[in-house]
Amino acid sequence: MSRAVIRWISGPVLHARAEGPFALREAVRVGPQALLGEVVRLDGDTIVVQVYEDTTGLRPGVEVTGDGQALSIHLGPGLLGHIFDGLLRPLSGLDTPHVAPGMRRASAGEFQFGPLVAVGDELAAGQAFAEARGASGRRQTCLVPPAAEGRVAAIAAAGHHGEFDPVCTLIAPDGTRRELAMGHDWPVRVPRPVRARLPAGAPLVTGQRILDSLFPVALGGKAAIPGGFGTGKTVLLEALAKGCNADVIVYLGCGERGNELAGVLEEFPTLTDPRTGGPLMERTVVIANTSNMPVAAREASIYSAVTVAEYFRDQGLDVALMADSTSRWAEALREVSGRFGELPGEGGYPAYLSSRLADFYERAAVVETLAGGRGSVTLIGAISPPSGDFSEPVTSHTKRYVRAYWALDVKRAQARFYPAVHPLQSYAEDARGFAPWWAGQGHGEWLKLRRRFLTLLDEQAHLERMARIIGKDALPVRQQLTLFCAELVNEAFLRQSAFSEIDRVCSPQRQAAMMRLIGKFITHAEAAVAAGVHPEALARLATLRPLQRMGEEVADDALERLTELEAALDREFAGLVPARVPAAPAAAAPTVEADDATDR
Ligand SMILES: Nc1ncnc2c1ncn2[C@@H]1O[C@H](COP(=O)(O)OP(=O)(O)O)[C@@H](O)[C@H]1O
Ligand SMILES: [Mg+2]
Repeated sequence: MSRAVIRWISGPVLHARAEGPFALREAVRVGPQALLGEVVRLDGDTIVVQVYEDTTGLRPGVEVTGDGQALSIHLGPGLLGHIFDGLLRPLSGLDTPHVAPGMRRASAGEFQFGPLVAVGDELAAGQAFAEARGASGRRQTCLVPPAAEGRVAAIAAAGHHGEFDPVCTLIAPDGTRRELAMGHDWPVRVPRPVRARLPAGAPLVTGQRILDSLFPVALGGKAAIPGGFGTGKTVLLEALAKGCNADVIVYLGCGERGNELAGVLEEFPTLTDPRTGGPLMERTVVIANTSNMPVAAREASIYSAVTVAEYFRDQGLDVALMADSTSRWAEALREVSGRFGELPGEGGYPAYLSSRLADFYERAAVVETLAGGRGSVTLIGAISPPSGDFSEPVTSHTKRYVRAYWALDVKRAQARFYPAVHPLQSYAEDARGFAPWWAGQGHGEWLKLRRRFLTLLDEQAHLERMARIIGKDALPVRQQLTLFCAELVNEAFLRQSAFSEIDRVCSPQRQAAMMRLIGKFITHAEAAVAAGVHPEALARLATLRPLQRMGEEVADDALERLTELEAALDREFAGLVPARVPAAPAAAAPTVEADDATDR
């Protein structure tokens, strides 16, 4: 045990004179309450410590102690279904969220233990050696820690055991004994090792049409959601947490007000997971460092969250991490950096902001685990740029590291058009690669329809500008048709309420059917207009209304109603009579299938 004495303290940062050896990243206890801290810098006989708890009352002369262990979090079966602070200490009551001063960890109680190995077996690092089942019944895997291996000398019998009880004894090749519990500690800032990183192949199915069908992110990919205040970041992240097809959700509430988390904390326990039938909370770990909690713990929370995600990945699961918001994390980094006396860079953030963001998003991946399984971590970070300015440092740096960028638009949000993802400012760099996946869902036309929709939306922006100047009626009919079809894509496809029982999650099959139906309407409409039907006549079609409302009205398990709608549409168009003799084809009019569509 080494000892140091505080010389200087400012908020969460202190300098202490060391009277013994300390290591970088070592966990320390500060003062009589044994507050949790971490050595972040060594400078001669001075250690610089970041304290993760309220430092009110600490002053020079107070003692700091350390036992050489790195700052770690405990990863185990007690995580799912629970709420933790930024250093994975259990939180009680979000009205007054708190962790008792000096608390390290608390057991989540007993688990039903089931060994998967026998005495004499040789275990490799990262291998599953047992199963653990909590009160809720969800089965989890107990892993050999990544830095351990050896022969099983003893293993507990099936039955109930406490979370931290030793349940397996390993003899390492060098003869050292090691007791394993169901979970293990892991240094908070160290990425967990894998055997290999694998190429991503499938998209994360989010259940949100504008994301899955227009701007998909890979399972194991990374996405950012920049958006000004009130544009729907939190609602969208919650919708993803509820509806996406990951096995485990890590939800990080980072620096936002406590009530921003209310949705997750109040609603999740009441919802069921459509995939398992169990409570949705059972696949969820919530990590919360709200704005009223210590700022240094907020800085650490993003590392805790991604490490937890990697822990479940290592069990062969697909994990999605939602962070709300990375801007508040960056602000914590800025505040702590200021206390270190570091020179501020752009926007007052430390110069290493960009590399920290890169390191974070780099941890998104599909991997071959140490045990030879396959798992993934998908990272989705909300960004709340001050006054909605996307050129600020956190947004612009993040943009360099993510593959999907879902920009929320103030105008759309003000018009209550949700999700307010802006179809022209958003992009998905991996989209093309998902065509085979969609084809496997029976949607071989996906890429073509996607391009068609995006082109329409692009043209809409141009034409609306023009229409504002010369008036909509002065546009050639062909362009009026483009505006009409773009509006249909917006209303019938992109609009999706997070609060609609039927529509808050949309299956890939329903998305595909809706996309095809709208594509068909557009094809019919183009033919009709080319044959002399005026676009205004389209607005009077009886099938238009059900088409616009199909998202809210046709549930995932009632897709035959879309087939009926399609037949009605065919009939109605067949009966349309041109109002006048067709004009000469409008050769100069842009065609919606133009191939120069920017691939976003
Ligand atoms: N997808 C959505 N569906 C329906 N309403 C939404 C949606 N997204 C946002 N809203 C509305 O906008 C409000 C603000 O959204 P919120 O997610 O809290 O914004 P932010 O987190 O960006 O500040 C919500 O309370 C809700 O009324
Ligand atoms: Mg919010």
